[in-house]
Amino acid sequence: MASKRDDGEPSTVPNMKWYFDKKTKQIVFGDVSAIEPDSEEMKGPDSLLYEVKKKLDTGPPPVQLLDTLDLDGIVNFIKGGKCQNIITMAGAGISTSAGIPDFRSPVTGLYDNLEKYDLPYPEAMFDLEYFQKTPGPFFSLAKELWPGIFKPTPCHYFIKMLHTKGLLLRHYTQNIDTLEIQSGLDPEKLVEAHGSFRTAHCLICKKEYSKEFMEDKVLAGVIPRCEHTECNGIVKPDIVFFGDMLPKKFSDCVEEDFGKCDLLIIMGTSLVVQPFASLSHRVPINTPRLYINLEKTGTEGVNFAFIFFTGGFKFDDKDNYRDVFWKGTCDDGCFTLSQKLGWKDELVNIVKQEHAKINKEVLLLKSKVKKFSSQKTKSTESRNLGKPGTHSDSKISVSKSKRKI
Ligand code: OAD
Ligand code: ZN
Repeated sequence: MASKRDDGEPSTVPNMKWYFDKKTKQIVFGDVSAIEPDSEEMKGPDSLLYEVKKKLDTGPPPVQLLDTLDLDGIVNFIKGGKCQNIITMAGAGISTSAGIPDFRSPVTGLYDNLEKYDLPYPEAMFDLEYFQKTPGPFFSLAKELWPGIFKPTPCHYFIKMLHTKGLLLRHYTQNIDTLEIQSGLDPEKLVEAHGSFRTAHCLICKKEYSKEFMEDKVLAGVIPRCEHTECNGIVKPDIVFFGDMLPKKFSDCVEEDFGKCDLLIIMGTSLVVQPFASLSHRVPINTPRLYINLEKTGTEGVNFAFIFFTGGFKFDDKDNYRDVFWKGTCDDGCFTLSQKLGWKDELVNIVKQEHAKINKEVLLLKSKVKKFSSQKTKSTESRNLGKPGTHSDSKISVSKSKRKI
């Protein structure tokens, strides 16, 4: 995935972008270097810009399908039965109310809170090359954020409700917290673009490991190592790091889905990481797009080619005919939508019932974490006891362990 590094160094990560293929005369999706607006490719009658503009000029003019360019317009569109294939796209902002930090929010975001890991730059936490040499920071963070301790949010249940009501074509998430699955969303309807913690593989021999195997190691603060004879490779959860390929299901579903999408709902993402962010431009030219977020980000500096093809978002433009921005939390956005759709009581009840069920499981997991922590303390203490030390050091250890007993 393409990335920006905070230290200003260019990323070595491949730059996945849409681009105009001069041979096939198609906008395609691939691993290419960025196309500069003033490069030779963009100048003259044979230029990329000329070709893209020509393609646009020959297309039919866009049609406004929404009565009004606001939430009511979206609600009327859904109520009027005008859409049956909604795609939802999400990022970390849909899980912050569950207690999981997002990445880029100032102060609270993960990338502002990684000093203790002494990383060369914040995104090194998810950089494959860095992880292979230094897996410790990632596994410490994984212990803190281990899936299962968090509950899906009202927004997650709203997405599931769209499926229950037969309206969801697919949910694309960048999140690795597995909250969509915990909310009960049908895995068939889900594309985890950046992978998940549900499975893991040895980086050397590729042997697969279960979430349970990882959970025991991660919660015990041990780096998971391959148990295959003489391998001993690091076992990495199947989440997509910078430098990893995206799962095959991502490209398969993108191909299959986006042309059919009749309403796109984007929630809780800064839309800065590619190729995910570019999906918002892949829906048909008339398809309405609703963006629910605390701030209007990711809508500037889009790939130059987009501006001349399906275009970037036009929230504030005079010629906007399909883009709606709703500023606020994802949960509030989903509650407001459900209220206007007449689904609010249903959503409130689902959240109540599901959270009650999960509370029991969370208690079990918390006791597991506590057990591992106390086992670790005990083994550290017994190691300390066996070590030569000063008389007073030994005493302290002994008295501590007595207190525990
Ligand atoms: P970001 O942290 O970049 O963006 C989260 C967005 O959600 C921000 O614009 C916030 O303002 C907004 N937000 C936060 N809480 C919200 C709430 N309760 N309601 C509405 N909006 C809220 O997270 P992502 O866009 O998900 O990749 O980041 C994309 C990728 O960058 C991640 O998947 C991760 C990261 O590097 C990898 O690690 C591979
Ligand atoms: Zn192995």
